[in-house]
This record gives sequence, structure tokens and C-alpha cells, in this order.
Amino acid sequence: MYNRFPIVVLAVSCLAALAPLSIQAADNKLEVFSWWTSGGESAALEALLTVYKKQNPGVEIVNATVAGGGGSAARPVLETRLAGGNPPDTWQSHPGFELIGQYVDPGYCEPITDLYKSGGWDTAFPKEMVVNLMTKDRKIYAVLAGIHRGNVLWFNAKLLQKNGIQLSDSLTFDEFFAACDKLKGAGIAPIGVGDSGIWASAQLFENTLLGVLGPKGWVDLFAGTIQWDDARVKGAMRLFGKMLNYINEDHATLTWDQAIQQLIEGKVAFSSMGDWADGEFVKAKLKEKEDFGWVNHPGTSGAFIAVADGFALAKGAPHKEAAMAWLKSIGSKEAQEAFNPLKGSIPARTDVDRSKFDSYHQWSMDSFARDKVIPSCVHGEAAPAAFQQALSDAVTTFMTDRNVDSFANALVQAAKETLVRK
Ligand code: GAL
Repeated sequence: MYNRFPIVVLAVSCLAALAPLSIQAADNKLEVFSWWTSGGESAALEALLTVYKKQNPGVEIVNATVAGGGGSAARPVLETRLAGGNPPDTWQSHPGFELIGQYVDPGYCEPITDLYKSGGWDTAFPKEMVVNLMTKDRKIYAVLAGIHRGNVLWFNAKLLQKNGIQLSDSLTFDEFFAACDKLKGAGIAPIGVGDSGIWASAQLFENTLLGVLGPKGWVDLFAGTIQWDDARVKGAMRLFGKMLNYINEDHATLTWDQAIQQLIEGKVAFSSMGDWADGEFVKAKLKEKEDFGWVNHPGTSGAFIAVADGFALAKGAPHKEAAMAWLKSIGSKEAQEAFNPLKGSIPARTDVDRSKFDSYHQWSMDSFARDKVIPSCVHGEAAPAAFQQALSDAVTTFMTDRNVDSFANALVQAAKETLVRK
């Protein structure tokens, strides 16, 4: 009798272990994976989830986030889950090489082309982006929640005013450095960086590189007609090196949003950062132009580095129906109008009610419509993951050795090994 007890317990516990699995396959759940954990990011994500819950009452949401700006910590976790056959239902991805190279090519995604057809999305979303960066073999693999602008120079408006600094949208590098000198002279760290995740410095470099090369040069560089040791690229590296002379001393211990917090507190004056920074200003209830302002990163007026946020559908999604409803929800006007004002990005849909957006968003929407839109390398769109990593590594080394030749050579080598020529 007593001897049989453990067997019975074992049998029951096996059943108990199996039961949730079979229920899980049919239950009303949704796991959403992202790296949106900063104040502004999580507020915006919450808005997306709220719209979803309203549209799909009764679905339990598992909000799976891995902290770390730019997704540098989240992506390896996701990769392990995907490789292990344990995918979240849906996850955040940048379009371009990240979506196609890391998730579609290895077979981790299910196409969602039908949603575009049934939802009339073919005309609602920017066609070039959908076709060039999110489609493989005529199948579409993601829906965009919003589009960030990467090349924005944010500033503490009161600090600049106090120091008699006025900037225009066509800010040049010389004007920018003159402003930095003035601020440094007044004892203020001019440029705030939070590169405990190195991508934040890589982004400062990316923006500066665009400022020197211009959009055409950018396209040529990634197409291989301009080399990474070209005089113009090296010139951009030198300018980046010069900027490093003006950054906050504690940059390596801060995250990107902590650096934005320093800007808010007036400890630093500028930050060259994608407009997820705007999400932090909105969250802190700051007033546009009074408390904070923005212009193009030096030299980049007329260009829009797009850092778009899409969501993909897992092949073998544990809760496929709920996941399809999630993607449909993200693509709805309601969700795009709720999410983007809090996130800093512009809606990917071009048919939203513009009056729901503040001045910054109006500025960015105008820029998107008018300027040359180019993909970001730091955020996985313009080049394969291996090159993105090589760029981060080269920036890490450059931060300490400031050697332009080795910086350029490292990228020439990485381009040879990893850049796919079309
Ligand atoms: C980007 C992402 C943005 C923002 C940022 C900082 O890669 O596209 O949505 O979250 O990272 O974490």
C-alpha cells in the first residue's frame, strides 16, 4: 500500500504536468516579447496592450520583456528560445536584415500577407518599407507599430537659452562644436551619452557618418561602392572622435535613458539619440521647446534614419489566433494613435489623425514624408547582424584607442566578410 503511494503520486504529478500543456494549446493567452522597459517605452507598450485587451477581451497577456536599449540583451535571449523551439507568440523586430536574416531565413516566422490583404494595409503602410524590408518571396512577415527617427539632436532648452545658444535645423558640425565649447567653458558636459550598451555610441557615430556622407553616400557605402576606409568615412570617424571629447565622464555606467534623464536634469545639454528619447520627455511631462528641443543631428537635415519597430508571428506560435489578433491590432489606427504619441515614433500608417500628435511628431512626420528615408545599421536594418556586431566592436575599441585607421580597417574587413552584395 505504502509502496504504491509514490507511484500514484508520480502518475498524478505527470498528469498535472501534462494537463497545463494541453489546456495551454487551446487557452486564451498571448506572449509578446520586446525590450521596451524604459519609462517611455513601457508606457507606450502598455498603451498597445490596452488597445489589444479592449479589442480582444479575455486574452491573458504575458508581457515578456528583456531590459536593455536597442535590444542588445533581448535578441540573444530570443535567439535561444527560437533555436530551442520555444518561441514567444510574437516579438519585436526591426525590418530589413534583422527580420529577414535573423528570423525569416532560418524559418522562425509565419507570413502575415493575408492581414495586409484583408485589412487594406497595402495602401495604409509605406509601400517601400513593406516591399523592400519586410517581404521575402512575395510574402510579408511583420507589421510596423511605429517608425522612429534615429538622427535627432535633443537638447535641454533652458540650458541652451541660459548660455545664449540658438540652433537651426540645418546645424553644421562647426556650429555644433562652437556650442559645445561654450557649454564646456560654462562647466557643463555638452553631450550626454549612456553607452553601458555600446549601441548608443555607435548611434552617435552612425548619425555623424550620415552627416558627412549624406543619404546617397550612405546607400553607396552599404552597397559597397564607397569603402569603409574612404576619406569621407575617416573624416566622419575623426568628427566622432572629436565629439567624444565633449561627452559626460560617467557615460559607460549609464543606460541611454539615464543619459536622457541627465539632459532633463540639466547635467548635460545635448543627446544624439533616436526619438524614443521623446517618449522619456513625454513621460516626464516636459514642455516642447520650453524644457527640451530638437534639431537634426549635424549635417543630416534632409535625411531620416528610420528605426522601425515591427512585430512578427512565430511559426508554431503556441497561441496563433491570439497572435494574429495582436498583429491586426497593432496595424489598427486606434493602436497606432495610442502608442506612437507616447513612444516618440511616428505611426507607420499614413492615414492617422495628425491632430492627435504633438509638435515633435508633426516635425518628424513632415520629415518622413519629405526627406530621404534610409535604414539604420546600428538597429539592424541596413546590414547583417555580423556587421552590426563588428561595428559595435569597432566603436568599443575606438572609444579608448581613438585610432581612425584601425577603426576604418576593422570595418573594411567586416564588410568584406559579412556585407551581402545585391
Ligand atoms: C530601438 C527600438 C526602439 C527603442 C530603442 C531603445 O532599437 O527600435 O523602439 O526601444 O531601441 O531601446
